[in-house]
Amino acid sequence: VVADAKVGPGLGPRLERSLQAAGIQARRAGMAAGEGAKTLATVADLYHAFLAADLDRDGTVAALGGGVVGDVAGFAAATYLRGVRLVHLPTTLLAMVDAALGGKTGVDLPQGKNLVGAFHQPALVLADPAVLAGLPPSELRHGLAEVVKTALVGDARLLRLLEIGGAPEPGDAAAWTEIVTRCVRVKAALVGADPWDHGVRQRLNLGHTFAHGLEAAGGYAMPHGQAVAVGLVAACRLAARLGLAEDGLALEVEHVLRRLGLPVTALDSDPAAVWAAMAHDKKRRGGRLRLVLPRALGVVETVSDVPPEEVLAVLAGLAAADGARPDRPPHP
Ligand SMILES: NC(=O)c1ccc[n+]([C@@H]2O[C@H](COP(=O)([O-])OP(=O)(O)OC[C@H]3O[C@@H](n4cnc5c(N)ncnc54)[C@H](O)[C@@H]3O)[C@@H](O)[C@H]2O)c1
Ligand SMILES: [Zn+2]
Repeated sequence: VVADAKVGPGLGPRLERSLQAAGIQARRAGMAAGEGAKTLATVADLYHAFLAADLDRDGTVAALGGGVVGDVAGFAAATYLRGVRLVHLPTTLLAMVDAALGGKTGVDLPQGKNLVGAFHQPALVLADPAVLAGLPPSELRHGLAEVVKTALVGDARLLRLLEIGGAPEPGDAAAWTEIVTRCVRVKAALVGADPWDHGVRQRLNLGHTFAHGLEAAGGYAMPHGQAVAVGLVAACRLAARLGLAEDGLALEVEHVLRRLGLPVTALDSDPAAVWAAMAHDKKRRGGRLRLVLPRALGVVETVSDVPPEEVLAVLAGLAAADGARPDRPPHP
């Protein structure tokens, strides 16, 4: 059982007791908490811990924690003895609806995030939404941004649920179960159709080209969840400008994001710098800016060669004090 220093002390012993009761022998390997621990050095520490625990090719690595533990323990499981069985036990909302699903594992390098990794599908993903009650509100919001993304990509009803009900209370396990289940259905269907991420799975990148641009241009001061929320607004507004979606879609998405306590503007952002960061991303992907854009709630498509001036106009709107679209009349 791999867990970080924040999750391990609380949930580790409970998991080990229940495994023991089921006749499964478990040993725990610890790691530090946070993105800073997502390194090859941590993976090397895990290999040593696996050897010390006599983990053999019939053994299983269980990743108990958020996306960081899942990615690091998953990569260690993918490579130790050329691959041992992996079980994800996600404990953050983000890991339940996103990181634990789909088989992507890996670590960061000093030059960038997720630069080393492997596909290694888990044998089992077991999410218990009751553990979300202990999650800091900021982490919950972070996950909610990915929930809104997933709803926009493939579950209009989920977006309506959030619009009407807002975020459930942290301890409302039944409501979280509904949200997590709906997100799992959307992501699992796309991963099942395109496990290696060459086609339809890329729909899950909705809002993320903008988000990465905002994060990079701001020196990574903006948390990923906030950048995704603003990125979703940008994608909806761009889709409206290009005539792909109704104006009302962006307004509806902004309304939901506000209800969930997520930002819909990036007032401190510099549109030119965000655009430069997006263009840098593009160069790494073969020279074309391909964006996933929404057509309607739950319907998205990939669009190539979007006119730069349209993207820049959207970025300028995000940075404008009232969040208004600069070249359109204000809303009454
Ligand atoms: N593999 C994928 O497909 C994929 C997809 C999305 C994101 N990711 C990766 O996931 C990572 C982010 O994951 P994250 O947001 O879960 O961050 P995280 O794993 O760092 O967890 C956030 C914080 O919450 C703590 N925590 C976890 N569960 C808790 C609980 N139940 N109660 C209280 N505290 C708890 C953790 O110790 C940590 O401090 C990034 O590295 C990202 O690259 C991977
Ligand atoms: Zn994301």
